[in-house]
Amino acid sequence: MTGTVDMRVRIGELELRNPVMTASGTFGSGREYADFMELAQLGAVVTKGVSLEPWAGNDSPRIAETPSGMLNSIGLQNPGVAAFCANDLAWLATQNVPVIVNLVGHSVAEYVAVTERLDAEPDIAAFELNISCPNVDAGGMAFGTSCPAAAEVVRAVRAATTKTLIVKLSPNVTDIAEIARAVEAEGADAVSLINTLLGMAIDTRTFRPKLARGVGGLSGPAIRPVAVRMVWQVARAVAVPVIGMGGIMSAADAAEFMLAGATAVAVGTANFVDPTASAAVAEGLRHFCEERGIARVSDLTGAAWPERQA
Ligand SMILES: Cc1cc2nc3c(=O)[nH]c(=O)nc-3n(C[C@H](O)[C@H](O)[C@H](O)COP(=O)(O)O)c2cc1C
Repeated sequence: MTGTVDMRVRIGELELRNPVMTASGTFGSGREYADFMELAQLGAVVTKGVSLEPWAGNDSPRIAETPSGMLNSIGLQNPGVAAFCANDLAWLATQNVPVIVNLVGHSVAEYVAVTERLDAEPDIAAFELNISCPNVDAGGMAFGTSCPAAAEVVRAVRAATTKTLIVKLSPNVTDIAEIARAVEAEGADAVSLINTLLGMAIDTRTFRPKLARGVGGLSGPAIRPVAVRMVWQVARAVAVPVIGMGGIMSAADAAEFMLAGATAVAVGTANFVDPTASAAVAEGLRHFCEERGIARVSDLTGAAWPERQA
């Protein structure tokens, strides 16, 4: 029995054919992965962070493995918006999949400038505003860890675009629900969470940090329980849809995020383990529902909440 589950979900103005997208920075712009899978199998492709000017990123080494995840300090390396449009966006537009562009900047003015530059592009379905990168000194997480700063940048970017606006939240805060409420109040159509957790690893042979920058962002299965807890808290605190991510390796992991309250999910570090992981999660989620007689994948959203357990 196939094709009986309604896999569609809605994020702002956007209807996705299924709830599974790629997590920014773990899928490039999809080109390398198109050799292994049809991008059209996904609900959406979320691009790596795009800034106004090219960014070089941080010094190497900037990846370190840990027992159940990885540390990275890439630092939002990207070729800048002009090269992105000419190369990546033009190619992505041919792939029959909604394109969500992840936006980064060092300042409110830079976030606005890159948004204005991309707002007129018809091939972009939505923006994901990254105010949660832990690997840059100015910008990124600096905006995502205080309510006034998060509100200010979301207000400015909201005024610069009519496209669906997703705001990506940092877990490196005391109360993620209050940040979510602050960005919802400024017009965010959805929130996505979590970005990486600040972490560190030290080489006991050399007595030096494993990353040139010292600290980095922890991703992968190690962070999943933290991410599920935060999705649970945020989904109960805001009315807009939540996109959940953090260590999703399988369809069951994706279902766990939806049961916690996510409307959609993103697959990140798993793409480095298996380049077809995101497509496998989408297909597996359909089976998960079929096996249980669940007619709409959206019925999973928040199904673990106490008030639904009557
Ligand atoms: C190598 C790497 C690069 C990343 N780059 C970005 C980025 O450019 N923008 C962003 O919002 N998140 C970025 N992230 C965070 C991921 O999108 C995701 O939020 C995080 O890794 C948690 O999901 P996961 O455990 O499934 O990887 C990056 C993560 C990794 C591992």
